[in-house]
Amino acid sequence: MQSHEQLQTVARETLRKNDRGGYTLPTQGLYPFQWNWDAGITALGWMTFDPARAWREYETLFSGQWGPDHFGGANDGFLAQITFHQDSDTYFPGPDQWGTDSLAIRTSSISQPPLHATMLRWMWKQAVRTSERDKTLAPQRDMAEACLQDLLPKVIAHHRWWYRCRDPQGTGLVVNIHPWETGMDNSPAWDDPQSAVLPTQRPYVRKDLNHVDASMRPPKVFYDRMVSLMDFNSACGFDPKRIFAECPYRVNDIGIISILQRSSIDLVALCQEFGLQDSATEMQQHVDRTQVAVESLWSERWQQYVSRNARTGALLDVPTSAGLMAAYAGFQKDCADTVDSWLDETLYGIPSTRSTYIGFEPLRYWRGPIWQHINMLIAVGLADQGHVELADRIRVDSEILLRQQGFHEYYDPTNGRGLGGGEFSWTAATYLYWIEPNASR
Ligand code: DGY
Repeated sequence: MQSHEQLQTVARETLRKNDRGGYTLPTQGLYPFQWNWDAGITALGWMTFDPARAWREYETLFSGQWGPDHFGGANDGFLAQITFHQDSDTYFPGPDQWGTDSLAIRTSSISQPPLHATMLRWMWKQAVRTSERDKTLAPQRDMAEACLQDLLPKVIAHHRWWYRCRDPQGTGLVVNIHPWETGMDNSPAWDDPQSAVLPTQRPYVRKDLNHVDASMRPPKVFYDRMVSLMDFNSACGFDPKRIFAECPYRVNDIGIISILQRSSIDLVALCQEFGLQDSATEMQQHVDRTQVAVESLWSERWQQYVSRNARTGALLDVPTSAGLMAAYAGFQKDCADTVDSWLDETLYGIPSTRSTYIGFEPLRYWRGPIWQHINMLIAVGLADQGHVELADRIRVDSEILLRQQGFHEYYDPTNGRGLGGGEFSWTAATYLYWIEPNASR
């Protein structure tokens, strides 16, 4: 069991070790590039001890954003799941697999949960607080302001991309077209929609199993389908209209919908603060529409929000942690009682799939293990809505896990064992930003 001081030191060291000068690897070997939502969470960690480095993470991430000149311009504002700032042969599918060779900075062709306006608002609040506490640190606020002035138009463009390309009919519920886009890759919630995807026949070599035991990773048939969807995307020339219409996989993921909703709410606030009133009004309209539409994703059975197969219209009635970010998103029902019941069923926090569900697998990636950044988002959302004790219960569970096991990618909810990649950046960042006793969030 490590002390707080030791853990803080190790957490900072973890970020420094994974730092590639402007971006942070999630972990070495297994994920050797810059990942989208990892970057946002990791920036929060940097913010607690090196604010300049935190803002740099964001500048580097958005340097890979697609603009009006990329692939015909229809994806203006797109921000990729992976940005390949340099080559590596330890990951599949790497930069040569996505059909984006013509880009100055190559990226993958799918996105990831758009949490950035929220992360940036939290970073902004921290900079303001710090400079109010200590006037000699006023330059930190100036730096934050300058960075946000540059970043906000890019974040607005990114939100527009989601609403325009992933909800072209204006239903209020965006879709995703690839399980990797959800960040919760092999969740049992995707088993049904995935079955419509023909597995690829082309040969490829997985690299993840060189780093992590197969029992903790998705099976081959999953990869065959992921490759198939990746190739479908490039075969469509990344045309969002065609992809929306023809992709065999099209899902309203409650995780992306919740994260986008919270991010749009935070974007409205930032736009108001930075004098971008028209964009604030535009984003508020999207928020209002989603607030109503999301009620169609309520599961009576599980007393939480769930996802939907947007191709068939069938509710994907599977209890995953993605549906517990309701308080975070500010939805009508905050799911606090449901979170409470989940916590009673396991010893160490919130598993990615409810432990009583038939598809629960405690070791396998997003089919059961606990992920600390999801714990953090759920807990922060609950605290924001006044469920302070419940939020603290999640924080204490998380703290126990990190003190016992260190900073792993994910954890077995049945015994707390650390799983997946080690020395993991966003896990270390959640410690620094959310758990560490002097964390100033
Ligand atoms: C992986 O390769 O497992 C990643 O989660 C994809 O983003």
